[in-house]
Amino acid sequence: MPQTTTTVSLRVNGTPREVPVDNRRTLLDLLREALALTGTKKGCDHGQCGACTVLVDGRRELSCLRLAVSAAGAEVTTIEGVDGGLPEGGRLQDAFTENDALQCGYCTPGQICSALGMLAEADRGWPSVVSADVADDSQLRADLSTEEVRERMSGNLCRCGAYPRIVDAIRQVAGAAESEVAR
Ligand code: FES
Ligand code: FES
Repeated sequence: MPQTTTTVSLRVNGTPREVPVDNRRTLLDLLREALALTGTKKGCDHGQCGACTVLVDGRRELSCLRLAVSAAGAEVTTIEGVDGGLPEGGRLQDAFTENDALQCGYCTPGQICSALGMLAEADRGWPSVVSADVADDSQLRADLSTEEVRERMSGNLCRCGAYPRIVDAIRQVAGAAESEVAR
């Protein structure tokens, strides 16, 4: 009889976890159903909305597209862990509140995890499709324009349309001089 369950060892928000999972289960379902970390949201379940974004080994990923078994050995950070585990997690959460960057809040955990990943990508000098010079790897996060943030966050949808304030919140943490968002 084929093996259908695997015990996966991984770290979630700094805590070692060992969880038996169906080989077909996604990381999203493991987080929400096996570990009761329901901050990570299921929106489309098809990789289209960004609601399920978490950090895996420091990079943003759509947890609905990742099989849990493939995350064995990984360090996973969800919205429940960003404040204690990542220096800027708490600052982003505060910035979202200060800038009124949420309405229903459903997309917010994914937005914040994605923003953390995005800022790290900018720190690494990764260009986006709107970067003026893709060969310039010295891009500092403080230079992130409204256009850059919008493009880099375009995988995270917000049905409430809180986009302008989400951009403001992220640029505030990025260190941008002042908001250029036209409301
Ligand atoms: S639930 Fe994963 S992208 Fe929508
Ligand atoms: S705040 Fe409601 S979906 Fe974004």
